[in-house]
Amino acid sequence: MPDLFGRGEAVGPEPAGRARAPRAGAARPIHISGYARKDRDFYATPDWVTEALLRNVRFRGRVWEPCCGAGAIATVMQRRGYEVTSTDIADNGFGTPGVDFLSCQTVPDGCRAIVTNPPYGDARSLQGQEKSALSMLRFGHHGLRLTRSVEGQFALLVRLRWVAGKRASALASTGPFAAVIALTRRIHWFNLGEETNISQHHHAWVVFDHAHPIGQPPVLLFAD
Ligand SMILES: C[S@@+](CC[C@H](N)C(=O)[O-])C[C@H]1O[C@@H](n2cnc3c(N)ncnc32)[C@H](O)[C@@H]1O
Repeated sequence: MPDLFGRGEAVGPEPAGRARAPRAGAARPIHISGYARKDRDFYATPDWVTEALLRNVRFRGRVWEPCCGAGAIATVMQRRGYEVTSTDIADNGFGTPGVDFLSCQTVPDGCRAIVTNPPYGDARSLQGQEKSALSMLRFGHHGLRLTRSVEGQFALLVRLRWVAGKRASALASTGPFAAVIALTRRIHWFNLGEETNISQHHHAWVVFDHAHPIGQPPVLLFAD
């Protein structure tokens, strides 16, 4: 495949796995979901989460979804009239597989924004999938770097508490931090009938915009 993204090496797809449900009603601490992590951390974003972003942010030009999974975010954006380039490190039957976001050196041709719900672990190896704020930071730094050259926008779905972490707050403070959209409804990541569990975490979109006026503080918005 031609290297459209200025990448180093790309990693091939791996089969997706199925999460295992916890025993119904079992007590668990907040940092333990009770579900085994899925391979490469593939969790589809419910439509309302993307709708909440689009009600509050207008993106300039074509959007890149670099961890597109089965296309949940991309499909909602396309429905709303956006042109979207979709890629993923794995093959979930949508977009262009085999593209490691962290190896890309440029945004794809014509893109002015990145919108994604990235993995929480380092999904380049199946061993490295422990939940990690550091992995999210890597995605954050990289997305900011890539969007800077096109004076673009960058929206990342994170756990709300991630924003308050020391390193994340440093990233946000040095970047063109435009908005936090806190989701007041918690996300239902998958439906397993009666065993379905909602996330114990609140999530938020953090939005960077390289056209955001220097010195103007970010806005805090609430959506569901
Ligand atoms: C939490 S899922 C989200 C999928 C999709 N963005 C959505 O919102 O429905 C994370 C996705 O990131 C992909 N991924 C993990 N590491 C990646 C990397 N280094 N580069 C590109 N995609 C990656 C996984 O294959 C998975 O599809």
